[in-house]
Amino acid sequence: MLNRPYTIITSEVTVDGKLTLYKGASSKELMTLMDIEAYKYLHQIRAKVDAIMVGCETVRTDNPSLTVRYVEGKNPIRIIPCGSGNIPTDANIFSKDAETWILTTNRMPEETRRAIEEKGHKVFVFDGDRLDFKELWKFLYEKGIRSILVEGGSTVNWQLVKNHLVDEIRLIHLPVIVGGEDIPTLVGGEGFKSLSKLLHLRLRAHFVRGRQLITEWEVVKSKRD
Ligand SMILES: NC(=O)c1ccc[n+]([C@@H]2O[C@H](COP(=O)([O-])OP(=O)(O)OC[C@H]3O[C@@H](n4cnc5c(N)ncnc54)[C@H](OP(=O)(O)O)[C@@H]3O)[C@@H](O)[C@H]2O)c1
Repeated sequence: MLNRPYTIITSEVTVDGKLTLYKGASSKELMTLMDIEAYKYLHQIRAKVDAIMVGCETVRTDNPSLTVRYVEGKNPIRIIPCGSGNIPTDANIFSKDAETWILTTNRMPEETRRAIEEKGHKVFVFDGDRLDFKELWKFLYEKGIRSILVEGGSTVNWQLVKNHLVDEIRLIHLPVIVGGEDIPTLVGGEGFKSLSKLLHLRLRAHFVRGRQLITEWEVVKSKRD
């Protein structure tokens, strides 16, 4: 039995694996290429999980709402890891549509914490300069989160992959190539750099929704699976 939330990474990716047009660009621009069927697919997943996560940089660049809008269903709790605590307190994730939890460190300015709490959202402060995702996943489980959808970006995806906290990856493929170096791809970080350490996946399903190819991958827990 899992003693952490069941974890699904979902992302829109170009054929060359990119998440956005250039470093620092909002992925919302690229997402205008998606049709309504792709949005419905994504929002169906959002409606089925207890929580949804994006990294703090995605909040700063994309300003997403992280709510369920294209299908009927409840909004998941919005959870943002943000070591620096540098998060705009007027961001869309602080709307009244759903609860938001910020996971941060003592680096978060006190006035930011107060402003978030005054809006009725929660701030959880962890020891150290950086967040340990294994510890976060244990904490979230203890708080009753049994399933979580992670929608990027690359840095957060790497934290999950590196710590073996992922159960599924579901991709909405955009039939374009962006090109360029230094642009966030599905998984960033320092990388495994060794064949023996790679995360292995098994294709569970592939189908077309609207104009998009969707692929759904399960993480193989051991090489014999
Ligand atoms: N196509 C898509 O589906 C999609 C989805 C999401 C995002 N994106 C794109 O991806 C880009 C953003 O990706 P990104 O990789 O730069 O950023 P990100 O993963 O969204 O966020 C990274 C930030 O999260 C916080 N964080 C992550 N791990 C941490 C740890 N261990 N300890 C403390 N804090 C931690 C840090 O915030 P602090 O530095 O403030 O501490 C870090 O800078 C944007 O261009 C966005 O448009 C695309």
